[in-house]
Amino acid sequence: MSTRYIPALRFKWLTPLYDPLLKWVMREETFKRKLIQHANIQPNMKVLDLGCGTGTLTLMLKRAHPEAQITGMDGDSQVLDIARNKSRGTTIQWDEGLASSLPYPDSTFDRVVTSLVIHHLTKEDKRRAFKEVYRVLKPNGELYVLDFGAPHTSLTRFMTTYMRRLEETADNFDGLIPLFITEAGFGGVEEAENFINIFGPLSIIKAKKGV
Ligand SMILES: C[S@@+](CC[C@H](N)C(=O)[O-])C[C@H]1O[C@@H](n2cnc3c(N)ncnc32)[C@H](O)[C@@H]1O
Repeated sequence: MSTRYIPALRFKWLTPLYDPLLKWVMREETFKRKLIQHANIQPNMKVLDLGCGTGTLTLMLKRAHPEAQITGMDGDSQVLDIARNKSRGTTIQWDEGLASSLPYPDSTFDRVVTSLVIHHLTKEDKRRAFKEVYRVLKPNGELYVLDFGAPHTSLTRFMTTYMRRLEETADNFDGLIPLFITEAGFGGVEEAENFINIFGPLSIIKAKKGV
């Protein structure tokens, strides 16, 4: 079992800077809003934000869909403490757990969304995580992954030069994420949208669990 764990900003001591960096430098709300639009969440659906970090997307999900049951899960108790503080007064459930062994029974969720998490996982853990997502989704449930994706232009290819040296991120830039999702059993795997961010090309990939 792989034990490599990469916190939100690679080093735990940088975690307090995560929210300002994402908000002001990465303009996170722009692409997180797109992810929520694609996910087509209906009232009373059960939604998991996998690797929720400090809970910004989780809170946006709850605000956009107050009648949905939203759960945020992350492997790092430090970011979960920040998320809990940010979400006082809401009914969001916060859980600690690992992507490679999700702490939920089979067929629990209608939607699993995950933002900027997959590039933190080793190749082996990416495969395990997608199998776990498949297991915890209900039949016809859908997965939406927002993360670094294959570059489509020479500018974005250049932007990825440094970050692709890391094993975990190279899988994303090599366009392997849709393949891993398909291998886990999903159908209808496709890139719903791609766009350029200051750190490189991002894409939203959607997939469905067949019956
Ligand atoms: C870059 S942050 C993204 C946080 C949030 N989803 C967002 O979009 O702002 C990556 C998150 O993935 C979590 N993470 C990394 N490896 C994980 C694993 N194996 N299981 C669960 N969470 C993990 C980290 O703790 C961190 O909070």
